[in-house]
Amino acid sequence: MSKKRVAILISGRGSNMGALIKAAKGFDYPADIALVLSNKAEAIGLRTAKSAGISTAFVDHKIYAGREDFERSMQRVLEINRIDIVCLAGFMRLLSPWFVAQWHNRMINIHPALLPDYKGLDTHARVLKDGAKIHGCTVHFVVPEMDAGPIILQSSIPVHEYDTEATLGARVLEQEHIIYPKALAMVAASNAGF
Ligand code: GAR
Repeated sequence: MSKKRVAILISGRGSNMGALIKAAKGFDYPADIALVLSNKAEAIGLRTAKSAGISTAFVDHKIYAGREDFERSMQRVLEINRIDIVCLAGFMRLLSPWFVAQWHNRMINIHPALLPDYKGLDTHARVLKDGAKIHGCTVHFVVPEMDAGPIILQSSIPVHEYDTEATLGARVLEQEHIIYPKALAMVAASNAGF
């Protein structure tokens, strides 16, 4: 079976992107990272991707009149690059139902919480504030509703009394870097949606 061509969409640091790039170097990994696309020119992840020899693209959401115009440009870039699967990895733009429909069952996201709990931003701070004992991360298919959609993989970790937002976030991120490559491999190896 030929390897699926993957685009990773980022807005910043790109550490999950880095984990996906590393995993995809494995000869039997079922996906190739064909493109990294950012809506921010200054995203550190763009530099990391370039130095790993991966094609990069920058689509500036600020120059478009509306969300769909921006997304139509992204869609063209994805089509030109013959992308099969889109991975959102810290891509901080809400996506329209139109764009989500283009990638039905072919777009996945990583979220730093155990969905369906703690959708949205500042998950680590909210977990600490609530005194929750368990936290974690989730990879899921993207649907129009934010941070929803069928769950592919999750990883949970204990919350310690001495945890701060930084220590908790760092332990969750370690788990993100483990489950995202596994989840992408599962999706790429299945024929669902292709
Ligand atoms: C990650 O923790 C990811 O789960 C989160 O942004 C961070 C990006 O870090 N995504 C979301 O909050 C989306 N709802 P990275 O750029 O180093 O991968």
